[in-house]
Amino acid sequence: MPTETTNKIAVYPGTFDPITYGHIDVIKRSQKLFEKVIVAVLENSRKSCLFSTAERIDMIKNSVADIEVESFSGLLVDFLKRKNAFFVIRGLRAVSDFDYEFQMAIANKSLVPEIETIFIMTDKEHFYLNSTLVKELAKNRADLKDLVPEPVERALQEKFK
Ligand code: PNS
Repeated sequence: MPTETTNKIAVYPGTFDPITYGHIDVIKRSQKLFEKVIVAVLENSRKSCLFSTAERIDMIKNSVADIEVESFSGLLVDFLKRKNAFFVIRGLRAVSDFDYEFQMAIANKSLVPEIETIFIMTDKEHFYLNSTLVKELAKNRADLKDLVPEPVERALQEKFK
């Protein structure tokens, strides 16, 4: 069972290809709820990523001050065990996110019953924001300043130049 100390660590997992202001909002809000938030970047995602794992990690570190970022492969629950963490943070936007998120939360809980997934509702400004949309806009040279921090904007411009 989690002890008081382990209850203070939360893991925010994702692909982050790339990190957006929507993710950053979730990180900042979860930092108010937990003593430590670890951003866990999935390596070798089933999705084909535009950015390498190292690039995705660098963009997070360059965009968010004082954040612990690590990569993981395999099962999220195994990463949680290694970190002695019992909380998973996920952002929820539209209702369309719900099915997938519900499945993941149930899968993780059946693997390790002590794990709780905490959902943070998106800010209204970030309702339609996701990494796929950002990449599409970047490819077509749209203005990204309200969607991603500067280091990410630069990295996207570099990829699509
Ligand atoms: O940002 P994403 O792509 O929606 O994040 C998905 C992520 C990384 C949280 C999810 O794919 C994941 O946890 N993958 C690790 C494999 C795993 O643990 N699977 C079982 C639970 S579904």
